[in-house]
Amino acid sequence: MNNPLSIDYDFARSFIESHLDKRQVNKIQHSFPSPRFWNETNVPVQRILEDRQKLHSLELGSPINLYLGVPYCIQTDPGKCGYCLFPVEVFTGNIDLEVYFGYLKREAAMYKDAVEGLPLGAVFFGGGTSNLYKEPKYFELMDLVHDLFPQIPSYVDITLEGIPQLFTRDKVKAIKEAGMNRISMGVQQVNERLNSLSGRKQKTRHTIQTLEWAQEFGLAANIDLIFGWPQQTVETMIEDLETAISWGVYDITHYELNVGGPTDFALNRYHELPSTLSNLEMYRASRDLLKSHGFEQITAYNWRKPGDPNARPYEEGVTRRFDSMDTLGLGYAALTFFGDVGLDEGHLWSLINWSNLNEYKAAVDAGRFPAEHGFRHSCEDFMLSLVWRNLFGLEIDRERFRNTFQVDAYEVFEEVWKALEDYEFVKVTPEKIQLIGDGPFYTPLIQALLAESRYRQLREKMISEAQTKEM
Ligand SMILES: C[S@@+](CC[C@H](N)C(=O)[O-])C[C@H]1O[C@@H](n2cnc3c(N)ncnc32)[C@H](O)[C@@H]1O
Ligand code: SF4
Repeated sequence: MNNPLSIDYDFARSFIESHLDKRQVNKIQHSFPSPRFWNETNVPVQRILEDRQKLHSLELGSPINLYLGVPYCIQTDPGKCGYCLFPVEVFTGNIDLEVYFGYLKREAAMYKDAVEGLPLGAVFFGGGTSNLYKEPKYFELMDLVHDLFPQIPSYVDITLEGIPQLFTRDKVKAIKEAGMNRISMGVQQVNERLNSLSGRKQKTRHTIQTLEWAQEFGLAANIDLIFGWPQQTVETMIEDLETAISWGVYDITHYELNVGGPTDFALNRYHELPSTLSNLEMYRASRDLLKSHGFEQITAYNWRKPGDPNARPYEEGVTRRFDSMDTLGLGYAALTFFGDVGLDEGHLWSLINWSNLNEYKAAVDAGRFPAEHGFRHSCEDFMLSLVWRNLFGLEIDRERFRNTFQVDAYEVFEEVWKALEDYEFVKVTPEKIQLIGDGPFYTPLIQALLAESRYRQLREKMISEAQTKEM
């Protein structure tokens, strides 16, 4: 059988060998392909929503993970915290948020009928900086969610993301009373000197204080840390992690720095960045330290210590299912993923809302869904997305994969797995394909390698479309 995803062993070996010490431009991704291939500007959002309802009426599909974004962040010097690659707008005052929230509400109303009766999986208020909102807005944000999903089971994780210095006791209280149950704080560096390179103004006391308030009001709390930061060493990273652990944090997201774009770190501090192999050393040291303190690795970068009385159980379904992927993104630059094995080719989509705020507003004003562009997945693309996502969750369950796609995940990528086994990045058993050793660190490399055949086809298609346009 001709396998359009197949990669041969020699190619896989040389791909791995030549990328081991290279900086991965794209870090871990949650759907194939990378957004630079999302070129479809006519995204049939209405039809996508109808498909969702059809699946639900057949008792298929998965619960919806709802994401609500905010465009704004406090101005920093250097801009965008020196490293951030997310689209954001500079916050100029509360009126920005008041106006934006009006749009978010109107956008949400467009989805009301379409999501009626659908089950909710998780909610995430991200950004940008969602804790820029003042106290009353947390209640209004939850009203908006309740309006779409009147039934919210108690196990649903509802997270609000923010920066340490913007949390206040009143805000944390309002977040809890409004019905959210988790906060996620971008700390990045505990070390104040290293943190100051980003222009972020938070101090360690802001983080400690917010964790105490979270504890006081019974909210679970995650902190985001970044390794591979300019001037960072294994020692400063370990010191940061030990400090965070000493605060009693149960939930740590430990990202490798993604360097790129016109950011200060990429343009002016590139020479101060640890090399990829130094980052690997940091990954190993952080893994060993976190494990020795009882943390469990649940994804390539998420670590959790069991026993948090405020935490919801980690939702395995978010990463480890093969039949569907279902995220509805609302707001500026929000991402939506929709696919299900019960749907035919042409009905599987990834899309992004406008990351130009004026365009976002203009679409909502005109009563249009504010989708900027998207990608229509073929069945192979959908399979790749799910392989990527499961690997991010550290393992592929071969039986579940077979039940969904009627093929064995091992056979589809046999030569790649063999090459990865040579490097002891994966372990293959009759039940599972698991990331082991340095495998989780190299998840972006492994994702890129698995997708290489399909990427080649997409690149060729893009070139030929561009040539046709020029003629
Ligand atoms: C989009 S930010 C929003 C959170 C909040 N505005 C903040 O900065 O804390 C979410 C997380 O993404 C991570 N992040 C942002 N840019 C990154 C980059 N270039 N490389 C690695 N992680 C990054 C940071 O850890 C950050 O906390
Ligand atoms: S890291 Fe957070 S605060 Fe900084 S620019 Fe990005 S989203 Fe905004």
